[in-house]
Amino acid sequence: MEQYIIKGGKALAGEVSIGGAKNAALGILAAAVMTDETVTIENLPDVRDINVLLQTIEEIGARVERSDRHTVKITGGTIHSVVVDNDLIRKIRGSYYLLGALLGKYKNAQVTFPGGCNIGSRPIDLHIKGFEALGASVKIQHGMIQAEAEKLTGAHIYLDMASVGATINIMMAAALAEGQTIIENAAKEPHVVDVANFLNSMGAEIKGAGTDVIRIKGVMKLHASTYSIIPDQIEAGTFMVAAAATKGDVTIRNVIPKHLEAITAKLAEIGVEVEEYDDAVRVVANKRLGHTQIKTLPYPGFPTDMQPQLTTLLAICDGTSIVTESMFENRFKYVDELARMGTSIKVEGNTAIVDGVKELTGARVSAPDLRAGAALVIAGLVAEGYTVVEQVEFIERGYECFEQKMREIGASMEKIDAEDARAVQKFKLKIG
Ligand code: UD1
Repeated sequence: MEQYIIKGGKALAGEVSIGGAKNAALGILAAAVMTDETVTIENLPDVRDINVLLQTIEEIGARVERSDRHTVKITGGTIHSVVVDNDLIRKIRGSYYLLGALLGKYKNAQVTFPGGCNIGSRPIDLHIKGFEALGASVKIQHGMIQAEAEKLTGAHIYLDMASVGATINIMMAAALAEGQTIIENAAKEPHVVDVANFLNSMGAEIKGAGTDVIRIKGVMKLHASTYSIIPDQIEAGTFMVAAAATKGDVTIRNVIPKHLEAITAKLAEIGVEVEEYDDAVRVVANKRLGHTQIKTLPYPGFPTDMQPQLTTLLAICDGTSIVTESMFENRFKYVDELARMGTSIKVEGNTAIVDGVKELTGARVSAPDLRAGAALVIAGLVAEGYTVVEQVEFIERGYECFEQKMREIGASMEKIDAEDARAVQKFKLKIG
């Protein structure tokens, strides 16, 4: 087990570069097996969820060659099984994309029920309804989702909620169905567009990704492609918030500023200066920041995956902020951990009432999930004294070299072995 140890109180400054989007990569890697030819994926983030998916793709027979840390070649022609199940894949959410990918290609897929962060009930009924509309029969047995079809036929599908996962999954299966599929009330997130662009680069015919209505004309087969994944909007947003919270001055490179607009707008509203360049943003905070109201919404609204980080920032701003979580009902668990550091946040249902405090003090806290873990690190960077964040394996699901990147912009932060009784002491001696 590993932990982060942080000595807070330093303003972050300098430049940090953002990696490829984890949630786009999960869809793209699954889609890559839909052709028998070799696909090259670039700008792949080297994070735990991605590595688990790659390992699983290899287990079902695909050839997976990592040419370097951020580039992988996948050949789906050698796949010998449509059964996806192992101890690691059960814990990640993106496993569900293999359902759409394998169903589309082989008209048969058996995939373990998806795991992922425990942020609330995460049904997959819309994915299933979509597959059924395309003509598949779907059963859930012994923890596995089994989807099969004689053939898939294009259909008109209306999603009750603009689900990212359901949109991508249906898009993948429909890419190799007969005839036209129309997905209405589709999710518009940048990673939906990225997966659609990738499928199109393999010969799919998908139009309208990024709008409410996606039209997919099924094709017979897909072919080889080389594709570079978009930058991770949430990793970028996390560094933006860390810069603002520590009263820093950080330039965040390799981003698409348009994807960050909802985050940029909220930061600007509370008094942070955000300068946008072609592929970078500079975040400067040099005064006490103010309060605001936030409601998480599907893209282009404020992303739920940035809610814990922004709430943490608001906890040390002037005044009272209101944060409403409208996507997942269990996404305020980190608030109890933050309280150990001196925050004043009251959660009522899906709303957090955040009374800004003047300062935080370091404490031992535990990451309850991926994004909440990143939020606790931000709190540690701000707090006076030392903070230990336990359960960093959650954070490593989605952030590559998090402590190293934080150090590059001036943070005093290290990853230590929880079993090493002297590790905390050694860090304190080193940092002073
Ligand atoms: C994805 C992201 C996650 C992000 C979320 C919202 C991945 C691997 N994960 O999760 O990081 O927080 O989008 O941006 O990409 N819903 C249903 N039925 C379904 C599917 C979803 O009711 O079949 C509901 C969910 O409970 C939730 C909402 O729709 O309230 C959005 O969920 P969805 O967009 O599907 O999220 P995930 O794909 O699980």
